[in-house]
Amino acid sequence: MIYTVTFNPAIDYIVHTDALNLGEVNRASSEEICFGGKGINVSAVLAQLGRESTALGFTAGFTGEAIEKGVAEMGVKADFIRLPSGDSRINVKIKSGQETELNGRGPDIGESDIAKLFCKLSQLRDGDTLILAGSIPGSLSDDIYQRILSHVSDKDIMTAVDASGKLLLNVLKYRPYLIKPNHSELGELFGVTVDTAEKAAEYAGKLQEMGARNVLVSMAGDGSVLLEESGRLHTCGVCKGTVRNSVGAGDSMLAGFIAGLPEGCDYALKLATACGGATAFSDGLARREEIEELMSQLV
Ligand SMILES: Nc1ncnc2c1ncn2[C@@H]1O[C@H](COP(=O)(O)OP(=O)(O)OP(=O)(O)O)[C@@H](O)[C@H]1O
Ligand SMILES: [Mg+2]
Repeated sequence: MIYTVTFNPAIDYIVHTDALNLGEVNRASSEEICFGGKGINVSAVLAQLGRESTALGFTAGFTGEAIEKGVAEMGVKADFIRLPSGDSRINVKIKSGQETELNGRGPDIGESDIAKLFCKLSQLRDGDTLILAGSIPGSLSDDIYQRILSHVSDKDIMTAVDASGKLLLNVLKYRPYLIKPNHSELGELFGVTVDTAEKAAEYAGKLQEMGARNVLVSMAGDGSVLLEESGRLHTCGVCKGTVRNSVGAGDSMLAGFIAGLPEGCDYALKLATACGGATAFSDGLARREEIEELMSQLV
């Protein structure tokens, strides 16, 4: 079984308006509501690829109930922990030519809630996959992903981490099977600009020296670089299409890579690229038909 963890799931409230004037009453021309969070996004794209997963994480209040319902409608099995107080966050995305975001803080997660997550993680078995994706609420310390990897380290579990900064650096000593920084996240770790495949490979190598086994660096419209544990380097371009909204392209890429791995790294990188593209070329997340269509550009 594949498990994803989302610490801070959200309702995205996307409002379109012709103009945004601060300090005035503004009216929306249209609005949409989406449910997500990085781990949930990975689970949703896995579902499109016909791979079952269980989304773990924390929900609270009436917004949490809405997220649970929305996730079920995406065809994703979830096993969320209900927090005793607060409300799962709402992220407001105002689209008025340019995009302004106001992301909620989210409920506090206490040690007793974390203990409940660890209890669920104790049920993982050899051969399972665990995907930790996204940032964590401010109330938690940035060793939480490291604690999780330590907790499952006595089992033969394939671990994938998509995080940035210290949250990512802290897990490297637990030798995660896969990490997927994007080029800016990779650059920030080393205080450099990563703007070519060569630089991506160079700094992916440094992360390997620090403990990561396989490093997949996504570079948005410039494609991706995969440095395998064996030292073999793969590069992949992107699919052709019209970009609509690339948020979640990296989560989709991770889902495609994990789903494609049984067929080997070459295939996994192609499926990852098709999934990333399918999300970038649609308003929401990648859907099966679009992924299949884009796959035909790559094989
Ligand atoms: N403009 C684009 N055109 C074609 N493919 C794209 C585009 N943007 C992203 N992709 C595909 O998706 C992959 C992941 O994109 P990106 O590097 O933007 O991820 P990310 O920054 O981690 O995104 P997020 O964190 O929002 O999920 C890219 O390697 C590429 O294959
Ligand atoms: Mg990302």
